Amino acid sequence: MNSRAPANILIAPSILSADFFRLGEQVKEALEAGARRIHVDVMDGHFVPHLSMGPQVVQALRPLADRFNAQIYTHLMITGPDRFLAEFTHAGSDALIVHLEACPHLHHTVRSIRSLGVLPGVALNPATPLMMLEDVLADVDNVLVMSVDPGSGGQEFIPASLAKISRLRRLLAERGLDHVEIAVDGGINPQTAANATEAGAAMLVAGSAVFNAAASIADNMQALSAAIRQQKTTRIKATAVNPKD
Ligand code: DX5
Ligand code: ZN
Repeated sequence: MNSRAPANILIAPSILSADFFRLGEQVKEALEAGARRIHVDVMDGHFVPHLSMGPQVVQALRPLADRFNAQIYTHLMITGPDRFLAEFTHAGSDALIVHLEACPHLHHTVRSIRSLGVLPGVALNPATPLMMLEDVLADVDNVLVMSVDPGSGGQEFIPASLAKISRLRRLLAERGLDHVEIAVDGGINPQTAANATEAGAAMLVAGSAVFNAAASIADNMQALSAAIRQQKTTRIKATAVNPKD
C-alpha cells in the first residue's frame, strides 16, 4: 500500500491518453502520485466516432485500484448503455457515467445504475443545455460537464463550459443538492484546471495533461494540483476580504 498522503484527490487521470503497452505501470504511477480516482473512457464507434476499451480494462485495473483504495469511474460514451451496465459493474466500476444524449429513458437508466450498487453519473455534451438534466438531478451522484466534444483526448477546452459549471453549481445549491459532484472532462491543463475549479468543478478529469505532458506523470499531476490549490487559496482570501462573494 502506498504510504504517501493523497495529494491529488481532485484529479481523475483518464487512461485514454496512457501508453497502453505500459498501462498498469502508468496507472500505478498516477496512484503513487496521489490519484484516488481512475477515469475509464469507453467508446463504441457509434455515439462517438472512435473505439476504445471495454470491461476487461476495468477488471484488469481493479486489483491495482484496490491497493490504493482508489475508485474507478467508467465514462460510457456509448449508445444504449443500459445493455452494458451490469457488465461494467461486475468488472469493478465504482461509478457508471452515461451520456444524457444516449439515454432516452435517463431516469430509468440512472435508477438501474443505482440498483446495481454503483454510483450513477450523467455526462452532458457541450451543446446540451443544463435544463435537460434538471429532472434527474436528485437521482444522480455526479454530473460530468464535457468541456470538449466527446470522442478523443488532446482537444482544446471549450470556454463556455465554465459558465455551464457555474450555473450547475447554483442550480444544485438552489435544490439543496450540493452533495452532487460536478466533474469536468476535456482539455484540462493547469490553466483550465484553475478556471474550472473557480467555476465550481470539484473533480477534474485529465488525460493528456497527466499522461502526455512534458514531465513525468507525478510531476504533471503536481502541476495540476498546484494550479487548483492556488486557485482555492486565492478564492478563500477573496472571500475573507469580501464575505458576500
Ligand atoms: C474525451 C474523454 C476524456 C479524455 C480527456 O472524449 O471523455 O476523458 O480522455 O482527454 P484530455 O484531457 O486529453 O482532453
Ligand atoms: Zn471521459
